[in-house]
Amino acid sequence: MSNVKFGAEAWNARFSGEGWAYGKEPNAWLAERIKPGSGKALVPADGEGRNAVWIASQGYDTTVFDLSDVGRDKCALLASQKGVVVDYQVDDLETRNFSPGQYDLIACSWFHVPWSMFCQHYPRMLSSLKPGGEFICEGYHTTQMEMTSGGPKSLDLLWELDEVMDVISDGFTTIHAAVETVELDESDLHRGRAHVVRLHLAKRKHRK
Ligand SMILES: C[S@@+](CC[C@H](N)C(=O)[O-])C[C@H]1O[C@@H](n2cnc3c(N)ncnc32)[C@H](O)[C@@H]1O
Repeated sequence: MSNVKFGAEAWNARFSGEGWAYGKEPNAWLAERIKPGSGKALVPADGEGRNAVWIASQGYDTTVFDLSDVGRDKCALLASQKGVVVDYQVDDLETRNFSPGQYDLIACSWFHVPWSMFCQHYPRMLSSLKPGGEFICEGYHTTQMEMTSGGPKSLDLLWELDEVMDVISDGFTTIHAAVETVELDESDLHRGRAHVVRLHLAKRKHRK
């Protein structure tokens, strides 16, 4: 298995075109699950900011961290077009400091990192949820390898539902956790039938 880490330069190159690589609209799973609110939201790895801008428009005080400074500039442009503010921090999951109990919502789409990094750093990231806070995300399943509707072509970055849940679900109530076949229509990079993992978890208020 490869252990590729697609770095900032590669993401900057992807985001340097005129348009938005994954569109300007939010990811459909996030848009279905996130209701208008007024708390603090963290949107990890939001690239050109489409999810963060939409989440800010729902009333959340919204922060992004992502490797890409080109993505930050695109997010600022989209935010000004939509009349919202997003605090976009160029930062790396691996080295970012996460203070516990900061956020009401953490939401992300297609945030794939090498599996060892996922195991070490996704739990740290989720520790920054407040009790009762929710984690909503979508990622590609390992069976996406053969598909042409997007996603990394490396099993090391793709997700098995039970493995993901083993790593992150301790201390959470599962609202939804499933492997699904969906029809994506986000952009030319993410269009067509896809095998995905969709998660919606809530951090328990009291540990059982
Ligand atoms: C496939 S893009 C998805 C962008 C966005 N979530 C969306 O759905 O439009 C993956 C994003 O993950 C970011 N990323 C990858 N590794 C990262 C890391 N270690 N820390 C922070 N961001 C990372 C990239 O810069 C890129 O913006």
